[in-house]
Amino acid sequence: MKVGVIGAGTMGQGIAKAFAQIDGYTVALCDIKQEWAEGGKDKIVKGYAKLVEKGKLTQEEVDKITGSITPGLKEDICADCDLIVEAAFEDMTVKQTTFKELDAICKADCIFASNTSSLSITEIGKGVNRPVVGMHFFNPADRMKLIEVIAGVNTPADIVEKIKKISEEIGKTPVQVNEAAGFVVNRILIPMINEAAFIKMEGVSDIEGIDSAMKLGANHPMGPLELGDYVGLDICLAIMDVLYKETGDSKYRACPLIRKMVRGGNLGCKTGKGFYVYNADRTKTAVDKL
Ligand code: 3HC
Repeated sequence: MKVGVIGAGTMGQGIAKAFAQIDGYTVALCDIKQEWAEGGKDKIVKGYAKLVEKGKLTQEEVDKITGSITPGLKEDICADCDLIVEAAFEDMTVKQTTFKELDAICKADCIFASNTSSLSITEIGKGVNRPVVGMHFFNPADRMKLIEVIAGVNTPADIVEKIKKISEEIGKTPVQVNEAAGFVVNRILIPMINEAAFIKMEGVSDIEGIDSAMKLGANHPMGPLELGDYVGLDICLAIMDVLYKETGDSKYRACPLIRKMVRGGNLGCKTGKGFYVYNADRTKTAVDKL
């Protein structure tokens, strides 16, 4: 099966790896510029090189995986895809436009899926001449086991079933979710990160204290502020804003500290600074003043 992954950023790279690691899957990794698609593939190759250095994978295994990922433009390499997983910028217009363009490029039986983290699948599919389904991966997408499979109002049941089957084929566990802002995981997880930012803002504890408390007290693999940096504070903010806009419920009010950090370009790991500063030697230091 050939999968077109649209968007070669963090999620797109992880999704590309999730498919390419499985025999029988090839990936077209796309972005709006050829060099961005190639940059995404370069990061994938570098990540695997570290695993070879650590003895986790052989060079032969890595060559097989990376050899099945082709970077490029969707108009050049997606015509024969069997499945599209869109992981473009989290913006309704961007996603709608992307699917309308893909409609003209892809063969008729290609399934259209979106990796949106909180937007309406029904609205994403508006004006597209084939159904759109949600296929929501979790970061790091090559290792996290869950895929939320989301049916929009116009998504036929057989498409949902096909995505569940594909999810299982790539070693994931699908959970079917009805359309709702944030679906299941992000509706719980992102408000938790948001609350941690409020706790920091109010001075209840410091960054490391908050993260240690949740790691040791709730057995979370990462603390909420560390996780916010990992997911990207811009993504967390966008999801909070969707939850608030869709429900009108003040419990989803985004923390002003996160909004301020996003405005300042402190987005977390991807910019090298969020609640922590990420050093070149892969260590991190909590930021004193936010
Ligand atoms: N093959 C073989 N070995 C591999 C491998 C691979 N493909 N990838 C990694 N490994 C190895 C590593 O080298 C490492 O080996 P080592 O222990 O000998 O050094 C071992 O496997 C473990 O890898 P890591 O150290 O990277 O992994 P951790 O065990 O520290 O876990 C984590 C990292 C999975 C990120 C964990 O901290 C975690 O689960 N964090 C929470 C993530 C989370 O909540 N994600 C959801 C975010 S929300 C989201 O994505 C939704 C979106 O819409 C916003």
